[in-house]
Amino acid sequence: MRLIYVAGKGGVGKSVCSASTALWSAGQGKETLVFSMDPAHSLSDILESELGDSPAMIGQHLSAYEPSVEKEARIFFSRYRHMFNALFSLFEVEVRPQDMAQFPGVAEMVFMDRLYDVYMEGMYEVVVIDSAPTAMVLPLLQLPAVTTGLVSRMLGIKNKWMGLLNMLEPGFGDSIVSEARRLRIKAETMRNALLDKSTASLTVVTIPEKAAVMETVRLIETVESHGVTVDSMIINHVLGGDCQCQFCRRKRDSQADHMATLKRMYAEKRIACLLDQGGEVRGSTLDSVAQELYGQGQLRLEP
Ligand SMILES: Nc1ncnc2c1ncn2[C@@H]1O[C@H](COP(=O)(O)OP(=O)(O)O)[C@@H](O)[C@H]1O
Ligand SMILES: [Mg+2]
Repeated sequence: MRLIYVAGKGGVGKSVCSASTALWSAGQGKETLVFSMDPAHSLSDILESELGDSPAMIGQHLSAYEPSVEKEARIFFSRYRHMFNALFSLFEVEVRPQDMAQFPGVAEMVFMDRLYDVYMEGMYEVVVIDSAPTAMVLPLLQLPAVTTGLVSRMLGIKNKWMGLLNMLEPGFGDSIVSEARRLRIKAETMRNALLDKSTASLTVVTIPEKAAVMETVRLIETVESHGVTVDSMIINHVLGGDCQCQFCRRKRDSQADHMATLKRMYAEKRIACLLDQGGEVRGSTLDSVAQELYGQGQLRLEP
């Protein structure tokens, strides 16, 4: 299985690029899933398909999945309820299942859990991950450390309180520990998958503007320092045409400078330029974007 993680700041075109990548991959006959990790989903809109709680087949070789954080958080909560109850009572807070989704880190855990299932089922050759603006890849990488802390805490509780916990409810203490362990194994598995060059790579989407370029440089630095491979970059919203008005000329010149900077800095990466399509990209326009990115050989699906 190949995981293509699409990251970048908000509004640069991650969802459009993820959908187009998935479309291209499916067009190559590869069983493909495009998976949204953005709590504010937009894939269904872009793909013009109703997407639900489980991967939905929306075309030949193509499935899409937008897990609902609220719903999954509830399920997640009930799946790990012993652990969460123990944890929250430790901090003396009461949490209702419906509030779970609002907790920091919960969206990451939920998506990690869903992605883990997709990964373990192994039904797809290519999984394209459309991420949230903050590049959830970092929280995902840090999850094992977080859960390690959790497990150690639980084991701490275990030694101190196990007898008491088991007295409250038979097996209560044991289930807390086994749930925490289970969670840790999942987080560890996904982290290893993301760090494995032959499995996962990250495609950064950016636009040729100063602030975006600076943010991209920081993003690449951060994820690479964690060992994740960034092999491709898409510079989106490039102004095409040959309009000679002052506005267009100035914009093209400024964009050219930023593109040159990125190409110089990241000569070893595949860098694709994607023209501004002059209107929202969805439905059939995705095909021409896919053609521009992959059909013209700017990017490749293979590592
Ligand atoms: N190359 C492009 N040309 C024209 N519009 C684009 C292009 N890429 C993205 N868009 C539009 O920009 C908006 C944001 O794109 P989206 O993929 O949702 O960004 P993100 O997922 O990074 O937040 C959408 O309305 C989309 O149709
Ligand atoms: Mg998006």
